[in-house]
Amino acid sequence: MKNPEHVQRVISALRKEGTDKLQVISDFDMTLSRFGFNGRRCPTSHNILDNSRVISEEGRKKLKDLLHYYYPIEIDPNRTMEEKRPLMVEWWTRAHDLLLQQKILKSDIAKIVRESEVMLRDRVNTFFDQLHQHNIPLFIFSAGVGDVLEEVLRQAKVFHPNINVVSNYMDFDDKGVLRQFKEPLIHTYNKNNAVLEKTEHFQLLSSRSNIILLGDSMGDLSMADGVANVENILTIGFLNDKVDEQRGKYRDAYDIVLEKDETLDVVNGILCYILGDLN
Ligand code: TMP
Ligand code: MG
Repeated sequence: MKNPEHVQRVISALRKEGTDKLQVISDFDMTLSRFGFNGRRCPTSHNILDNSRVISEEGRKKLKDLLHYYYPIEIDPNRTMEEKRPLMVEWWTRAHDLLLQQKILKSDIAKIVRESEVMLRDRVNTFFDQLHQHNIPLFIFSAGVGDVLEEVLRQAKVFHPNINVVSNYMDFDDKGVLRQFKEPLIHTYNKNNAVLEKTEHFQLLSSRSNIILLGDSMGDLSMADGVANVENILTIGFLNDKVDEQRGKYRDAYDIVLEKDETLDVVNGILCYILGDLN
């Protein structure tokens, strides 16, 4: 924490003002899902598809090549978001084009997720259940693949009715074959108003002025821009990769930075206090 007094003040305000004004806005990939396990990287929602048996060997190789080229750009601390933005559009567009060539079936998604190596962060159930029990809306804003991440949550039995998702959703033809991705395209650095205004959740999002924001990328910090009257916001950032290089930037940007922490323990503890389950 760069400013513990500020964090303390915001947490006290969130607790005092109660659950009616509170919402949680969270990224999905590498924020709610794990970055790594036993020294190995865990898949993003895109990677779940890329690594599955429904993708041809050639397709898989091309998708891996894209990842190896663009991911270092995505997290490069020496490039500005403005520089990165067109390159991210390029990555997402090329990746989606490759996925479209694979004739992915809607009916295969559940099996693809079941057979994948995706993992959610430790104690994720406590997080989801706590929000559900207290009727706190959880808004998931993801540049991943909506159909896949929903299925991950469903299989983990945490896809409760207080959750709304804005993400890249697939569009299937009448035979259930993937034919395109729905608009607008969401990538790491356009998680803001421009995208949200086009979604049905915009109104809902604006109705609660106290926010806990969870992310793992600098691009996640604009996820709450759509909320007109923010009164109190606590931002918590998971710093997963290139920790030493990115520490300064993350500490300047997020109220709390969690370095290489694969759990939701800190978030759960704060929620527990705010929701009055702990004195
Ligand atoms: P998000 O976590 O900010 O929602 O972004 C999704 C992540 O997905 C981002 O870190 C990059 C990653 N990604 C892949 O792993 N494979 C892909 O093909 C694409 C387009 C993105
Ligand atoms: Mg992420």
